[in-house]
Amino acid sequence: MRVFVYNMRDYDERPFFDDICLKEGVEYGYSYEAPTVENAALARGYDAIDIITCPVDRPRLEALKKAGIKLIISRTVGTDHIDREAAKQLGIDVIGITYTPGAVADYTVMLILMGCRRFKYLTMRTVAQDYGLEGRIGKDLSDSTVGIIGGGPIGKAVARRLSGFDCRILMFDRHTDEEIAGIAEYADFDRVIKESDILSLHLAGRPENRHIIKRDTFAMMKDGVHIINTARGLLMDTEALIDNIESGKVGFAGLDVIENEIGRYYYDHGDEVLTNRQISIINGFPNAFVLPHMAFYTEAAVRDMVVNSIIKGKEYFAGEISRRTGSGTDGADGTDKERI
Ligand code: COI
Repeated sequence: MRVFVYNMRDYDERPFFDDICLKEGVEYGYSYEAPTVENAALARGYDAIDIITCPVDRPRLEALKKAGIKLIISRTVGTDHIDREAAKQLGIDVIGITYTPGAVADYTVMLILMGCRRFKYLTMRTVAQDYGLEGRIGKDLSDSTVGIIGGGPIGKAVARRLSGFDCRILMFDRHTDEEIAGIAEYADFDRVIKESDILSLHLAGRPENRHIIKRDTFAMMKDGVHIINTARGLLMDTEALIDNIESGKVGFAGLDVIENEIGRYYYDHGDEVLTNRQISIINGFPNAFVLPHMAFYTEAAVRDMVVNSIIKGKEYFAGEISRRTGSGTDGADGTDKERI
């Protein structure tokens, strides 16, 4: 296999690409840029491209097709940044990968604890040498019900970690898992929404999951509910979230992801006027923040992403995994199912 790597990062990924490609006999080229119509020709002569969560729309796909690309390997779990319908029509396959779910699960638990202990407000005030107690009283996790929406590998890893905090755990998923049933109670969506003090989202960015948390859903929630989203921005109606933080219905929002973030993260935009107002509004609240989609970002996960993308690409060309053109390997290889 010859693979062209977009969005290469020298400071963490590059040594892993060097090692695995040497070991597996894979020839690779790279660019620090995301794929564009203009730079698609860089991939000419390669069989596949290897990308992260950058937009890959129809015009980019057409340019990649022209360059002879047969496969897009996204070194991510979700592949919702790729127009898969257009890929299907153009005869380009799409595959995602898996990496240790512990990375995102740890980060999720960190956000849950930060919400419970009002960490944003506490640090803001501490920097200003305000060491008062007022307004900083915590919520006890052990007295809380945590609702996990989506029981895939990450949702399950969150449940396992939370079981050490003595809280009640509710889990919404269509499939039950015996191990998880021992630590969490499976319940339908409405019950999880209504009974949880803290909600954590772990669904995939599929069209049918868009705005699964919307105005009507907020209305069903407990007053002062905490919401954590380390999955995909499209799961939640951001305007409805902002209104519900303003009204006090939502007591804390810890977002690693937000709608319309794609293409913005992992670069320094320090001197630019950014156009996503929702990020600025949410980051202005003392009880909410938007982080730059980096819950995945640990040494083990980055190594898995690089290594597994090369291994999966080789397996694909060896005919060892599905070649269902354009439908990607959705549901066939454990990536980008309804939950992550
Ligand atoms: C994924 O793997 O789907 C992620 O969300 C992480 C990616 C942004 C690098």
